[in-house]
Amino acid sequence: MIQLSNIHKSYGPKKALDGLTFRVAPGELFAFLGPNGAGKSTTIGLLTGLVAFNEGQALIDGLDILKEPIKVKRLCGLVTQYPNLDAELTVGENLDIHGRLFGLSAKERRLRKAECLDYVELADRENSLVKSLSGGLKRRLMLARALIHRPKVLFLDEPTAGLDPAIRRRVWSLIKKINQDKVTIFLTTHYIEEAEFLASRVAFINEGQLIATETPQAVMATLGQWAVDVYGGEGLRSQYFESREAATDFLKNQSQGGAVRRVNLEDAFLSLTGRKVE
Ligand SMILES: Nc1ncnc2c1ncn2[C@@H]1O[C@H](COP(=O)(O)OP(=O)(O)OP(=O)(O)O)[C@@H](O)[C@H]1O
Ligand SMILES: [Mg+2]
Repeated sequence: MIQLSNIHKSYGPKKALDGLTFRVAPGELFAFLGPNGAGKSTTIGLLTGLVAFNEGQALIDGLDILKEPIKVKRLCGLVTQYPNLDAELTVGENLDIHGRLFGLSAKERRLRKAECLDYVELADRENSLVKSLSGGLKRRLMLARALIHRPKVLFLDEPTAGLDPAIRRRVWSLIKKINQDKVTIFLTTHYIEEAEFLASRVAFINEGQLIATETPQAVMATLGQWAVDVYGGEGLRSQYFESREAATDFLKNQSQGGAVRRVNLEDAFLSLTGRKVE
């Protein structure tokens, strides 16, 4: 459904993407993870026709993004990293404008608006001004808006940033539901447990280069099954082991305090992207 080959993108002298190549199959829920400035939003930008690139080829559903930009845009829904709703308009008006941009007729817009509001459980807020909505409701409205033209691929750039844990889980359920309804999802997030919970496959990007694309379980397995966190003079350090016994033995020989736990995707993220916990 998404195919990137050898993409290069520079902003002046700064290389944002450096030979990016990967594929996402139809129906996948693909999480794209990486530290701040790694190139995640730039990748979403170029896949949705908002960012030009210097070299390489990008296809959505077999269509070349540069040769068929309008057709490609019709296939894609986008929830951007920073909310871009029209705050002075109502919920319904925001959806209506988006429907117009995609060329939907008045009747289609009415039907799709009701359907999308129901879908994200916002039907009772159709006439509320967007500026009166909480952060969680705004995110749900952004999801509804991205679905108004029935895209085949949905790009979600940190869709739960800044949401409280309960609301975040509600948005997760919604993302799962959208994916179960056969929409391919490309997700970026800094909440690693979000990727672990939602994604069928994860990719790690660092400084514009792809490091790994695997199932969350396979990425974690490269480290081991068990982790020991040791709190010492250098801060928190983690060591990884295949068995619980090996982890416990290691901890017994440490003079500082520590804890044994299962390896998680965050360990893989920190190990692959080279960020140390300080
Ligand atoms: N419009 C721009 N002009 C110049 N440099 C840019 C522009 N947009 C992004 N960059 C640079 O390109 C690199 C990749 O940025 P990008 O926004 O894609 O990262 P990101 O992975 O989405 O980060 P974050 O997790 O902070 O959202 C960064 O070094 C960033 O400073
Ligand atoms: Mg970003």
